[in-house]
Amino acid sequence: MSLPSWMTDPWLTDWLHLLARWFHLIVGAGWIGTSFYFNWLNNNVRPVDDPTGRLAGSVWSIHGGAFYQVSKYKGAPEKLPETLHWFKYEAYLTWLSGVTLLLLVYWLQAGVMMLPAGSPLSPAAGAGVGVGALVVGWLVYDGLCRTPLVKHPRALGALGLALLSGAAWGLTQVFTARAAWMHLGAMMGTMMALNVFFVIIPGQRAMVDAMIAGKEPPVERGKAGALRSLHNNYFTLPVLFVMVSNHFPFAYGNVAPWAVLMAIVLIGAGVRYWLNLHDQGSYNTWILPVAALAMFALAFVVHGPKPAESGAAQLAVPTDTELEAIIANRCSPCHAEAPTWPGIAAPPKGLVLKTAASVRANKDKVYAQAIAAPVMPLGNLTQMTDAERAALGRWLAAGDPE
Ligand code: HEC
Repeated sequence: MSLPSWMTDPWLTDWLHLLARWFHLIVGAGWIGTSFYFNWLNNNVRPVDDPTGRLAGSVWSIHGGAFYQVSKYKGAPEKLPETLHWFKYEAYLTWLSGVTLLLLVYWLQAGVMMLPAGSPLSPAAGAGVGVGALVVGWLVYDGLCRTPLVKHPRALGALGLALLSGAAWGLTQVFTARAAWMHLGAMMGTMMALNVFFVIIPGQRAMVDAMIAGKEPPVERGKAGALRSLHNNYFTLPVLFVMVSNHFPFAYGNVAPWAVLMAIVLIGAGVRYWLNLHDQGSYNTWILPVAALAMFALAFVVHGPKPAESGAAQLAVPTDTELEAIIANRCSPCHAEAPTWPGIAAPPKGLVLKTAASVRANKDKVYAQAIAAPVMPLGNLTQMTDAERAALGRWLAAGDPE
């Protein structure tokens, strides 16, 4: 029995896809928001007069026209309050909706969205490597956090960064740059969500259960959670960068994608460190300028070749007919009203490329995806040659004949 046609209509799948993305953003904003807020809160706690000796301090703030005073306890309060608010569903839902998106965009279409031309992997094996990367990433990270190395944050940070670089490099060897970036981001996102699920929440649960049983709460479990929470805090900015950068091919599609990504991870974590220091009341003068300079320098690193600069400027601009032959071979298998490429049911993003006029009408997009960064054809599945790409570049640079 086959599904009714409206169920497989690309219109419906695109719509569901958009809804999944919207949901992911909403819960993600909730999660990042609480993460930022509680880190800010923690960094801004200042000692108060406290005869009970139980308070670590408190914070005054004003927001939305009201004054707030929040107190932080050194350990647990003497007595549990009637209502205790937990923060966990934002994390779980962000992760679940993120995995749903990975499934829709990458794993279910691994043959086109993940694997480069000539990959020895089958689409199923490619998707398996993607899932495996998230699992292994978590096991290695969690294992490291359970070694005595946690007492040496700098060593742990350096080793973590080296391992993450290794993972980034490895992923770019197996996947297209875009899929590699997304999987490294998802790997960090998975560490964040599972930190909440396996360490932070169970630790808090143990503290609360001990109190209900009238026992001394295991404060060290809370401390382990606080460390993971800090790690999560450092992951936030790089992970967010990966998620938005997927729409900017020049960022991931040019030189050494893994190294560019690791530079972003380092810069993002550095900026987060600056924010933490700032909240604690110490003002660092060099991190932000260095981060800004590094971002500026990266702009030059990721700059792709301009078509006119490729040394081929003297070569003839292809005629419209010559161009149409290139497009027919390299782009139209997917970008056609009725695509012939296996696994492509409808023209991706509604983009049909056939005539010179259709390319001209989409010239900025085509330039961004095929010239500024060579990310189209996806994974170079249709095996576009460098000469053809340069010819397309010259044709685009020559502009409209009128
Ligand atoms: C193997 C299939 C395949 C081939 C071949 C292919 N594309 Fe694509 N293209 C895609 C898919 C899939 C997307 C959508 C990616 C996404 O979800 O962001 C896409 C997206 C694009 C976009 C972005 C459209 C938008 O509105 O965001 C452009 C531009 C593009 N392709 C140009 C080209 C050009 C030019 C060629 C030939 C040189 C080409 N593609 C060859 C599959 C292909």
